[in-house]
Amino acid sequence: MALACITAQQIVSQDDPAFATSWIGTEVTTYKTLQQGERFIGLGEKTGNLDRRGSGYTNWNTDYFGYPANADPIYLSTPFYIGIHNGLCYGVFLDNTHRSYFNFGASNHRFSSFAADDGNMNYYLIYGNSVAQIIEGYTHLTGRMSLPPLWSLGLQQCRYSYYPDTEVLRIAQTYREKAIPADVMYLDIHYMDKYRVFTWHKQYFKQPQQLLAQLNQDGFKTVVILDPGICVANDYEVYDDGVANDVYVNHPDGEPYLADVWPGTCAFPDFTKPIARQWWGKWLQKNVDDGLMGFWNDMNEPASWGQFMPNHMEFNYDNNPTTHREARNVYGMQMSRSTYEGARQHLNGQRPFILTRAGFSGIQRYSAVWTGDNVASDEHFLVGVRLLNSLGLTGVAFSGYDVGGFVDDASPELFARWIAVGAFTPFVRCHSMVNTRSAEPWAFGEEATEIARNYINLRYRLLPYLYSTFFEATQNGMPVVRSLAINYTHDANIYQSQYQNQYLFGQFILVAPMVSNQNIAKIYLPQGKWYCLYTDQKHEGSQAHLLETPKDKLPLFVQAGAILPMQSVVQHTQQAPEPTLQLHLYANPNGQITNYTYYEDDGTTYQHQQGEFYLRQMQYNPNTQSLTIGEVSGSCASKFEQIKLYLHGFAKLKKTISINNTRATITTETYTFVNPLSSFDPLTPLGDTSKRIDNLPFVLIPNTPQTITVKW
Ligand code: NOJ
Repeated sequence: MALACITAQQIVSQDDPAFATSWIGTEVTTYKTLQQGERFIGLGEKTGNLDRRGSGYTNWNTDYFGYPANADPIYLSTPFYIGIHNGLCYGVFLDNTHRSYFNFGASNHRFSSFAADDGNMNYYLIYGNSVAQIIEGYTHLTGRMSLPPLWSLGLQQCRYSYYPDTEVLRIAQTYREKAIPADVMYLDIHYMDKYRVFTWHKQYFKQPQQLLAQLNQDGFKTVVILDPGICVANDYEVYDDGVANDVYVNHPDGEPYLADVWPGTCAFPDFTKPIARQWWGKWLQKNVDDGLMGFWNDMNEPASWGQFMPNHMEFNYDNNPTTHREARNVYGMQMSRSTYEGARQHLNGQRPFILTRAGFSGIQRYSAVWTGDNVASDEHFLVGVRLLNSLGLTGVAFSGYDVGGFVDDASPELFARWIAVGAFTPFVRCHSMVNTRSAEPWAFGEEATEIARNYINLRYRLLPYLYSTFFEATQNGMPVVRSLAINYTHDANIYQSQYQNQYLFGQFILVAPMVSNQNIAKIYLPQGKWYCLYTDQKHEGSQAHLLETPKDKLPLFVQAGAILPMQSVVQHTQQAPEPTLQLHLYANPNGQITNYTYYEDDGTTYQHQQGEFYLRQMQYNPNTQSLTIGEVSGSCASKFEQIKLYLHGFAKLKKTISINNTRATITTETYTFVNPLSSFDPLTPLGDTSKRIDNLPFVLIPNTPQTITVKW
């Protein structure tokens, strides 16, 4: 039977009348008539264009070192996409974990289709008035992230691999010396004894607990890599314990499945088996006792040398025994789940941070995601931007890429541009491969260092905004990096290849990534009015603007009507910011009302679930010329004693402003979001107006818990 979904006499989605849902052997496919002008977005970690029309994709979690910029499949599968046509949109989630195939009018003009190698054609059609509603529906089904530890929103530094312990400390120390904020150091595979999980290398890391304590004292949390392969060795208690608990994946004859990875020949825990997940979680106790709160799950597609696992391998699949064919795509997610659940159990109410490479729909409940072994090239830099935007459309709000590129060496300019954009991603980590050049922010020369510092500083100053954005993700699944297709779904311009990498960071900031040597570019600003972040210069929306885009100035625009909460720079998130919340309000004369939810909590525990948070609804109403900062809800105190309200773009302000019906004097100051490159251009810093706002009006307001009404 062919199905159709119709709203107000318009077809939303309709089965192909002849093929509908049909089978070839066990392969099941649903065919949908291509609608006029239909576009397709989403499908998660997939290379290619924002609009996927004309392309086809496979979901089969794959370890792909240095993947080409058009590779498919790569590490993670989320069989969910959004279709857009004739002012309508809808989502399709294929709830089938077998290898699956999506065709968006590739090699045919008749249909789009989704298919799985085997299993049921079990799919959800989600209809909504907006892409945001569809994401909300999809994350209602597959789950949403919980609040991450605040430290995981800071800058993270990785290398394959930092060792010995003194090298780890040297890198951490250099961050502090160079005054580049950072929160996390990583230990890649060399921290282990012969690459065996749950061990420490005896020479390189003689006193791990002291090392972690020292780093913690310096404001660094440490994340260690954990691979699934368990070395088969008779002097390795983890392996023996796995045998005793019957946790490993077997061939159908009951022999354990063995394959080679870093430690040599390995057995693989069956993370789809409840007792294997508990077993893994139990071993994490050791790590937590050592002082770890962060875990990085790599190679969990799962990967093995040869990359060709036999399909007959048997998996428990939560007591529904099956084979590799059905289990592979969820293996990585189930590993992350057991890491998350185990860590959480041992951490005594502290939030763990988990990072994963492989995953499936729902991974957002357990882990952040990074996009694996990218390459230090301009092309990859932009592919990464689109991968994160697409992951965001598919429920994964907490995502990032290896800043600077994992494989090969970035040029100073590429690194500078990459880290500036990286500061505007949910998860920001510099990482690079063994035998490549040093790739810390200071390794590319003074100029790149200053650019990196500028943008990392800006990220830390934006933490109140970023944390509130993460809160939103926990509530309705809205991602942190938002493809313009979310808010401007039916604007054909945003899909053009020259604009498809632009995105919103949270509710209000538009980011336009530029590659090396792209010193002048056309940037398309969608509907509304937009302020240049650096100068407050106003730009009309619904048109493209030709603008200078030098490497030290990432194009950033703030939407008229925006309410942007910021703080002073800190060197890491354990450091308290100055007790003044900088609240930036951007005039939107004759525009719409802005609603904004501001959120704080302790940033480390789950006490917010018991009401220990600090939440305020804010509303800017251009008609009544007022800003309302609603009464506080929740029992947590704010970090900030006062609010410094900055008024951007307000043309005819009086000398005073009304705060709760009392007049307060407006003062002005020169304000910079990003410093000029002082050491490179000694003549211009003072004269350089391209990064500063002169005479920016502000007013100071005590941060009282009752409703605050500001009128001008
Ligand atoms: C592969 C991962 O993608 C990479 O990030 C890591 O450095 C290496 N494995 C070594 O662990």
